Amino acid sequence: MRPTATDGPTALVTGANRGLGLETCRQLVAQGFRVVLTSRKESVGMAATQKLNSEGRDVVYHQLDITDGESISALAGDLPRLAPRLDVLVNNAGVGSWGADRAASARTIAVNYFGSRDVTDALLPFIPRGGRVVMVSSGMGELSYLGRDLRSKFADPALTRPALEALVASYLRDLEKGDPGKAGWPSAYSVSKISMNALARILARELVSRGIRINSVCPGWVRTDMGGPNASRSVQVGARSIVLGATGVGDATGGFFRDGKMIAW
Ligand SMILES: NC(=O)c1ccc[n+]([C@@H]2O[C@H](COP(=O)([O-])OP(=O)(O)OC[C@H]3O[C@@H](n4cnc5c(N)ncnc54)[C@H](OP(=O)(O)O)[C@@H]3O)[C@@H](O)[C@H]2O)c1
Repeated sequence: MRPTATDGPTALVTGANRGLGLETCRQLVAQGFRVVLTSRKESVGMAATQKLNSEGRDVVYHQLDITDGESISALAGDLPRLAPRLDVLVNNAGVGSWGADRAASARTIAVNYFGSRDVTDALLPFIPRGGRVVMVSSGMGELSYLGRDLRSKFADPALTRPALEALVASYLRDLEKGDPGKAGWPSAYSVSKISMNALARILARELVSRGIRINSVCPGWVRTDMGGPNASRSVQVGARSIVLGATGVGDATGGFFRDGKMIAW
């Protein structure tokens, strides 16, 4: 850990040791950001940071497992020594579970929803007026994947944080019972991203008075470890969609974007 040398805006990216997170760091630095690259495994994150710095980038490293409260607190404690403020937070870290395995499904909710929620809550105090939060979501987080009753609950423009938490808890209960599909739930991955999107809309309302914008972004189907080799997009094109969410969507807040263009919830 060392403080950065330059004085530009600062961005922090979660899950940035590989895939879209790493390329997002590369593109943000190219746009003049100082970047805090984070990863749950220190060795791979340090190696990724060294690689970017050897390309002449300005990147600092901090460990962050987004499901570990102590790791989140350690980052929040160290952040003032890494950067004077946080202009952009990119909640990129994620895992995928599309099948029926209960443990993998619960883990997907723990990482993609609870992890991104907890990191956002912990780092919001460092984000100044004019700052942005990007939730790296997915087209599989569209509301259309839900059964009709659930869809209207998630789509409710007056949805509150406690009501959202109750919906996520009800998914986990239905998962435990063994057949969440019967209650109208799609895959755990879809539930995690639908919930993340709902949280973005709730936070957008809450953060208006602080001048902080938060949007969800879909990178498209991208050739990473998660997307697989047959995906239609390169990691550069996918990460560009994320970076546009951080820099190129004007004053929008509480929106869902792909390639800088608004898409349907
Ligand atoms: N690829 C696609 O087609 C696609 C499409 C739509 C949305 N997305 C979203 O884009 C984001 C990045 O995906 P990707 O394709 O780049 O996937 P990836 O190559 O599998 O990378 C996922 C990253 O998340 C990290 N991660 C997982 N659990 C973590 C935790 N508990 N704490 C911190 N980091 C953690 C991984 O770290 P480790 O190396 O330690 O596992 C890795 O760095 C995800 O949110 C994904 O849902 C991807």
